[in-house]
Amino acid sequence: MTATSISPAADLTPARKLVNSPGVLIIAHRGNSSIAPENTLPAFAKALAVKADLVELDYHHSADGVPVVIHDDNLDRTTNAQALLGKNKVLIADLPSAELARLDAGEWFSDEFKGTKLPTLVESLAAIQPGSTTLIERKAGDAATLVKLLAREKLTDQVVVQAFDWEFVKECRSLAPTLTLGALCSKAANEEQIQAAAETGADVIVWNHEKLRRDQIDLVHKLGKKAWVYTIDDPQRAADFMAAGIDAVITNKPATMIRVRGAIKRPAE
Ligand code: G3P
Ligand code: CA
Repeated sequence: MTATSISPAADLTPARKLVNSPGVLIIAHRGNSSIAPENTLPAFAKALAVKADLVELDYHHSADGVPVVIHDDNLDRTTNAQALLGKNKVLIADLPSAELARLDAGEWFSDEFKGTKLPTLVESLAAIQPGSTTLIERKAGDAATLVKLLAREKLTDQVVVQAFDWEFVKECRSLAPTLTLGALCSKAANEEQIQAAAETGADVIVWNHEKLRRDQIDLVHKLGKKAWVYTIDDPQRAADFMAAGIDAVITNKPATMIRVRGAIKRPAE
């Protein structure tokens, strides 16, 4: 087994310094999504308010190629598209960004958030980066568009990008050698899978917490990678992973997990 090498210059980027810092990072999943509508500016503001180390979001491309922040590939669950458009299951990829901007992405969560819009990726980065670090999950869209967008915003070295699609991760690595990358996996973890995830060139292996045994964290570390888990809201479950050496917990409840982290004892790091 060999660790995938990373260029020494890349170690100096702010994002890589954060990822390599000792202790457990707490990552707000889709923003502080237990108290505000997921993947919206209010959810990001509430994640910053509790000092989440990173703020995760998801994006898809609109019909005119604009990265728009939303989890699902269709608009039904988290917007008023059905009522406004009179159609079900309209895809983000089928509407231009100007049409997507008309939708309400907060009212489904509670009246307090009525009027909240679907943010673009650029708007989201502008909201998150001054107070935290964005963990960008690509759901759909090509690597070149994202890499160019990050370069234009001067954020290539300030964010982390992750995807379940490992070909996308590899392409990002080839297009942007200093970009900090995560390879996501939802399958049952085994040595072969973990090795393959490492070979994408990702800095971080990000696994479903129900599919990664705690003793497999050491294998990820031996490959020279960080081990993160998603999505844990149960304090005891998170405490167990933290005690076992996990490097980050992705959670809908960042304030709770920051308290859990404060109570955990780990061997000196
Ligand atoms: O950050 C990892 C996690 O968000 C992946 O699952 O479905 O919530 O995007 P999902
Ligand atoms: Ca996600």
